[in-house]
Amino acid sequence: MQKASTDTASLETVSFVHMEDMTAEDAAIIANHYEAHDSEDTATQVLRLLSELKGPTFGYQIDRFRHSLQCATRALRNGEPDEMVVAALLHDVGEPVAPWNHSAVAAEILKPYVEARTYWIVRHHGLFQGYYYFHLEGRDRNARDIYRDHEWFDDCVTFCREYDQNCFEPDYDELPVEEFEPLVTEFFANESKTPGS
Ligand SMILES: [Fe+2]
Ligand SMILES: [Fe+2]
Repeated sequence: MQKASTDTASLETVSFVHMEDMTAEDAAIIANHYEAHDSEDTATQVLRLLSELKGPTFGYQIDRFRHSLQCATRALRNGEPDEMVVAALLHDVGEPVAPWNHSAVAAEILKPYVEARTYWIVRHHGLFQGYYYFHLEGRDRNARDIYRDHEWFDDCVTFCREYDQNCFEPDYDELPVEEFEPLVTEFFANESKTPGS
């Protein structure tokens, strides 16, 4: 959402009930609401999504919340840039609502805030992670090879190997979510973000 073009519009309510009747003043009112609502609340909502991963283990030895914390902790301890730490933390947040295409959900949440490479890694991590189990389900573990010639193929392989497939340990000393909250808040306040559609 673009910054309001006028400072006169306060946090009021629009005049229209059908969008085709929206005025410039209405648009400014909405823009001001979005700006007031913006980055801090986005971080809060994303962290709420992350907390939704608490509980069900689906047979794994830990739940997806601890899995996510382990992914982020390993990325942090490996000296990855903040962007990759946040990507590791949030790569599975779409699972509760989109278990079969959760990679796309997480990637789209991150897209306005990250480099194209990071977006691509998160977007394809589900397929690449399949290397570790697709063959156990009668599927092709090398299905990811359709992207073999892609410039970020190796990066996605590394992400899954270092920050995903190895993060199901009940005894791992992952950092608590509170350690990542300032980073997430700062991340979603990034002024260089690009508006999506
Ligand atoms: Fe995943
Ligand atoms: Fe994962």
